[in-house]
Amino acid sequence: EGTVALTLKVNGQSHALQLDPRTTLLDCLRENLALSGTKKGCDHGQCGACTVHVNGRRVNSCLSFAVMHRNDEITTIEGIGQPDHLHPMQAAFIEHDGYQCGYCTSGQIMSAVSVLKENVGPTDADVKQAMYGNICRCGAYSNIVAAVQQVRH
Ligand code: FES
Repeated sequence: EGTVALTLKVNGQSHALQLDPRTTLLDCLRENLALSGTKKGCDHGQCGACTVHVNGRRVNSCLSFAVMHRNDEITTIEGIGQPDHLHPMQAAFIEHDGYQCGYCTSGQIMSAVSVLKENVGPTDADVKQAMYGNICRCGAYSNIVAAVQQVRH
């Protein structure tokens, strides 16, 4: 009762869903589709842990309702790479220790992949500014910038 039917396209696969219309895209991904790589930090658009791509552009999935994305292509960290087939950005984060606890890492990587699409020649300062919405409580920022710069080169 009080639910709506929709189909969501995530990582190239279509999923038929029946949802409370107030379900955020973040909760839908994690709880309905079991895509737990996307993390919930603040649930209020302030930390970036929930970053996914919608039609190739990064969004905070906690700020969006799933029902708004009927016609969109959504990509999560699971669609970017897998343990046996890492995206170059994932490999660079490992090489440069671009994380400590790892909770923010999926969001950082989704954002970083997007930053390189937005600006093909960013300086360190450009990377820092473009990723200001992705908070790392462990303070791995300089290593994150190094990882992004490695992928650019
Ligand atoms: Fe979405 Fe923090 S959980 S921005």
